Amino acid sequence: MRLEDVHAITVVGAGIMGHGIAQTMAMAGYDVCLNDVKQEILDAGLKRVRANLDLFVTHGFITGDETADAFGRITTEVDLEAAVADADIVFEAVKEDIEVKRALFNTLDAICPERTILASNSSALLISDFASATSRLDRVLLAHWYNPPHIVPAVEVIRGSHTSDETFNLMYDLLKKAKKMPVRINKEIPGYLLNRIQIAMLRECWALWQAGIASIEDIDLAVKGSLGFRLASIGPLLTNDLGGNDTICAVADYLFPLISDAHEPPDEYRQMVKDGNYGQKTGKGFYDYTPEEWEAVIAKRDTEFLERLKALYW
Ligand SMILES: NC(=O)c1ccc[n+]([C@@H]2O[C@H](COP(=O)([O-])OP(=O)(O)OC[C@H]3O[C@@H](n4cnc5c(N)ncnc54)[C@H](O)[C@@H]3O)[C@@H](O)[C@H]2O)c1
Repeated sequence: MRLEDVHAITVVGAGIMGHGIAQTMAMAGYDVCLNDVKQEILDAGLKRVRANLDLFVTHGFITGDETADAFGRITTEVDLEAAVADADIVFEAVKEDIEVKRALFNTLDAICPERTILASNSSALLISDFASATSRLDRVLLAHWYNPPHIVPAVEVIRGSHTSDETFNLMYDLLKKAKKMPVRINKEIPGYLLNRIQIAMLRECWALWQAGIASIEDIDLAVKGSLGFRLASIGPLLTNDLGGNDTICAVADYLFPLISDAHEPPDEYRQMVKDGNYGQKTGKGFYDYTPEEWEAVIAKRDTEFLERLKALYW
């Protein structure tokens, strides 16, 4: 399939990630069918898309007319077979569970047209582990978006050992057309590129928090105002060059034996999860906010992200 042959896209799973992926592809001019197990979930997803699109208008990305066009291109469908009947591309964004994904890919393989490319948004699983549930190994790959997917530019495009060049390049071109920043990951590896980096940073943040070195607020503040501030514009390896590799290598020699090399999350963090303190989902995590306060956190995040997106990438 060539890029100009792609017209219809289906997104399976309308949760945190799926609705934003649907919005992005609709904004890029594609007909998008959003699928989930219940109509209420689809309605909630559409409501979020509507609000997101309004925010895009407020920040000058698109006009009101373009919003109406994009919104009009999204349909919802609970029946999976009907949802994928004409799909050129399927983006999968369901639960991070290998068995659930394997079963879904097996079904998708059976009911999708022959030409359909299946792309998973898994956060860390190897694509080969569930591509093998299909008979179209060359047309299966990972497209790993970052939350919020309609705003964060980078999408990791990860090929499995059998993904064809055609599929890999098509997904890259499709995401580029949708104004995303696709990144080619040539060889699959658990966690791909970005989650390995992210979890390495979190391991140290959790260790510092557990050891009481700084408060939760101050850990966030320090990273936001330094590493985060820089990283929005320049990558870590260019930062190395600008800082001087002699200096950074000396710091690494000193710190490597001292920083956390834990093989599992610290007890306090695990306890937080055991207690059901998942963060915004359940109201409490590192921060204890009311539902209104969480809404305000997300609104502020999206506003700042959109301004940054416009300034740096759009
Ligand atoms: N949340 C994140 O920050 C994030 C970031 C990157 C990747 N991901 C990955 O994206 C995927 C989805 O994550 P999420 O955070 O959107 O989850 P979520 O729980 O918010 O949404 C998942 C949705 O999938 C639906 N679903 C489950 N099984 C289904 C099926 N068989 N058919 C149709 N719909 C089904 C659920 O009803 C739910 O609405 C996961 O693989 C996750 O690891 C998540």
